[in-house]
Amino acid sequence: MKKLISLILPIAITVTFTACQSADGNSSGSAPTSSETAATTQSSTFSEDKSDVTADDSVIDMAETSQPENDETSEGGKTLIAYFSETGNTDKLAQIIHEQTGGELFRIEPVTPYPTGDALFDYTKNEQDNDERPEIAGTVENMEQYDTVFIGYPIWWYEVPQIIKTFLDEYDLSEKTIVPFNTHEGSRDGGTYRYIAQQEPNATVLEGLPIRGGDMQNDQTQTVREWLDRIGY
Ligand SMILES: Cc1cc2nc3c(=O)[nH]c(=O)nc-3n(C[C@H](O)[C@H](O)[C@H](O)COP(=O)(O)O)c2cc1C
Repeated sequence: MKKLISLILPIAITVTFTACQSADGNSSGSAPTSSETAATTQSSTFSEDKSDVTADDSVIDMAETSQPENDETSEGGKTLIAYFSETGNTDKLAQIIHEQTGGELFRIEPVTPYPTGDALFDYTKNEQDNDERPEIAGTVENMEQYDTVFIGYPIWWYEVPQIIKTFLDEYDLSEKTIVPFNTHEGSRDGGTYRYIAQQEPNATVLEGLPIRGGDMQNDQTQTVREWLDRIGY
């Protein structure tokens, strides 16, 4: 299934990109110059489901996530907003969360930058197939000081980007409250909230927020506010 998607995806993206150009009347004729194009042209490419992933995982069944014995709340503690964003959508979302929570921002960036344009797709597919852990530039100072860690990312190939796996491997998030959020173009959270809960059995993982990358063109402050209220933040 993954192989099939891998073959079809670049074609679908090319077709979508071509369609966008004619609809826009953009006659520059230039090929997608960077992955920015990819972020805005995949709305019809990604389905919600993946054969081995539960389709609607945007709301976690808390009974299935591990709760630390000492059930902490986020109130009063320090908050970190750690996120990866290749083409800017998740960055916008992280900035809104930052404005609303006052937490500290840490942008997760690879030591080796990702290739741009179509090359990004093959590169990241291989990275995922080989279960790589790309090295993160910089470090979160003193992770112990944070009670709550928001973790943001785009869905890549129906999963968290491999660099998010590096982040989860690198830091001890036990006993913390984790709040995932992500952007996507059809897969919603793609089962990634459940994945994070599985990887961090000693953390409390709250309901996450998935937003379409294309929707980040509009102000999402209200949506973010309602979500933060829902999770008691
Ligand atoms: C390599 C790659 C793989 C992607 N895979 C998916 C996917 O499986 N499902 C989906 O809904 N969107 C997928 N997308 C779309 C991104 O999740 C979406 O454009 C996101 O908003 C990009 O976030 P960013 O601008 O913060 O990097 C993919 C994008 C790229 C570049």
